[in-house]
Amino acid sequence: MKQVMMITAVALLIAAPAYADLAQDEAMKALASKSGCNTCHGIEAAKPGPDGLAPIGPAWVDVAGQYAGKPGASEFLTRIVLEGSNPYSSHWKGKVSGLAMPPNAVAITEADARALVHWILALKK
Ligand code: HEC
Repeated sequence: MKQVMMITAVALLIAAPAYADLAQDEAMKALASKSGCNTCHGIEAAKPGPDGLAPIGPAWVDVAGQYAGKPGASEFLTRIVLEGSNPYSSHWKGKVSGLAMPPNAVAITEADARALVHWILALKK
């Protein structure tokens, strides 16, 4: 009996981080949806629609692929999310159909933007 309890305890310990990740994923998806990010962004890279147009904004797994591990990426992207991107120096030219991202500071707080960017940067393809 003692051994069974041990095994259960160990199994729970191993499973706990996975549950934490799932809860985090759901919270971040809800935040993105509430803040209107989903209008222009998908999480996974999507195939072009029937009209052949690229998505409006880059898929967030692609953003992670581009910036993850780069020093200062989290702060840099948080600023862009809050203040918008520069249409004259697009970072995703030719890969997305949107010319620039409008400022989102009206839709999301700085702390939430930072948390969302942190989560985006950890996404895996
Ligand atoms: C109206 C459409 C639109 C909305 C709404 C929008 N984005 Fe964007 N986003 C874009 C476009 C277009 C780009 C590509 C900008 C570029 O080419 O430099 C982009 C780029 C980004 C990037 C990468 C920036 C870079 O310079 O590489 C991140 C991160 C991002 N968006 C996060 C968000 C988050 C988080 C939200 C919600 C709070 C959001 N976006 C809402 C259109 C949008």
